[in-house]
Amino acid sequence: MSTKATVDLSVQMCGIRFNNPFLLSSSPVSNCAEMIERAYEHGWAGVCYKTLNSDRVEIIHPSPRMNGYDYEGKRLVGLQNVEMTSDRPLRHNLADILYLKKKYPDRKIIVSIMGFSNDEWAFLAKASADHGADMLELNFSCPHMSVEGSGYKVGQSFHLIEKFTTTVKRAVGIPVLAKLTPNITDMTEAAVYAKNGGADGVSAINTVRGISEIGFDDFVARPNVFGRGAVSGLSGPAVKPIGLRFVAEMAQCKELGLPISGMGGIETWVDSLEYLLAGATTLQVTTGIIHYGYRIVEDMIEGLSDWMIARGVGKLTEVIGKAVQNLHETGEFDLQRQGIATYDLDKCVGCGQCHIVCHDAGGQALRWDSATRRPELIEGKCLSCMICSFVCPVPGLIGFTEKPKDWKRLPTPVMDEAEVARVRFEPFTLA
Ligand SMILES: Cc1cc2nc3c(=O)[nH]c(=O)nc-3n(C[C@H](O)[C@H](O)[C@H](O)COP(=O)(O)O)c2cc1C
Repeated sequence: MSTKATVDLSVQMCGIRFNNPFLLSSSPVSNCAEMIERAYEHGWAGVCYKTLNSDRVEIIHPSPRMNGYDYEGKRLVGLQNVEMTSDRPLRHNLADILYLKKKYPDRKIIVSIMGFSNDEWAFLAKASADHGADMLELNFSCPHMSVEGSGYKVGQSFHLIEKFTTTVKRAVGIPVLAKLTPNITDMTEAAVYAKNGGADGVSAINTVRGISEIGFDDFVARPNVFGRGAVSGLSGPAVKPIGLRFVAEMAQCKELGLPISGMGGIETWVDSLEYLLAGATTLQVTTGIIHYGYRIVEDMIEGLSDWMIARGVGKLTEVIGKAVQNLHETGEFDLQRQGIATYDLDKCVGCGQCHIVCHDAGGQALRWDSATRRPELIEGKCLSCMICSFVCPVPGLIGFTEKPKDWKRLPTPVMDEAEVARVRFEPFTLA
């Protein structure tokens, strides 16, 4: 029987051991040693350091550089940013990396780098390795690079992914991850190019190019950088489904077969577990930290541990990729098996939302008794779309049950015979 003391949250990725899967992702949350030290105190197993550049040009961030995307009262459902790579001098960052590695040998440092030429990629890779990087993450995915051959434009040009990965692998002996862009149709293809270049693993996702808000006073997409907006990078819970999809597809890809560092909207142990089940080995976080601070890792560790104890899982590695085998093409669903919604009316509060949604967007399968203020299900009309359960305010009131194989749903919409008779129906054939 596992206990909090005995569950093993450690993971191995590219031959490197992490005390737990949780890492700061490359962003302002991993900007310097002072910040990362504080993160370590809360239990983060490591860091993917803010993307280094070679000081070739002075980095000036747009101002303001982020915009919080709130939705119906929920704050920071997403975060829109136009931030660039590190604006600190390279030698300061390298000194910080060396300091962290010496002081915290058990925490792992992945250094994110971005070059603009082969030489620059090789230089940054070597400098990082020489200053204690355990691993590198190649930033092929920054979503607001306007220069060709950089950021997500590399991630969209697969031969460049392969070329720069090859360059870095020739320059250093430490493991290399390719951080890929979600601003693409099929990430597995990009990932295979990274593999061909020698990548030891992949990271996903960087932010999704989007516009989350437009000002009605100035007609400028947010963030409003002195009267100018831009399509820019969206992160946070709003992008989690996209991140999970790309991670799962890469985990499923037999040709790839590389470990994955997953990210995009991870804020709770539930999000974390989903990414692990989808095939991620390590988990990276930015927006969750921006929202709640470094301390969220404590809740994530506790939540994962509690779940493992409840499920009798001793080692976290046992669950990695467990959902991948259950992912199918929709064409593979067994359409002979059908079910309907079930109602536990003892719990019903009589709000009528199920009735409204079923009538306006479902199968018109609910009769509404206005005296008792309760719905009555006409089973044959239930589409099993389950939208009633999404609007019902009472957890567990509406469930789902399978019907016997010979059960038949009524055709929709159901017209009575007299009505059908009124309509002239002439069978036709395709010419
Ligand atoms: C303000 C900001 C700056 C970022 N800077 C970088 C960066 O320098 N390099 C990089 O690879 N990713 C960068 N990212 C992307 C994050 O590392 C991460 O991939 C993305 O935000 C998704 O994770 P999240 O939903 O937990 O934020 C940045 C994200 C934000 C919000």
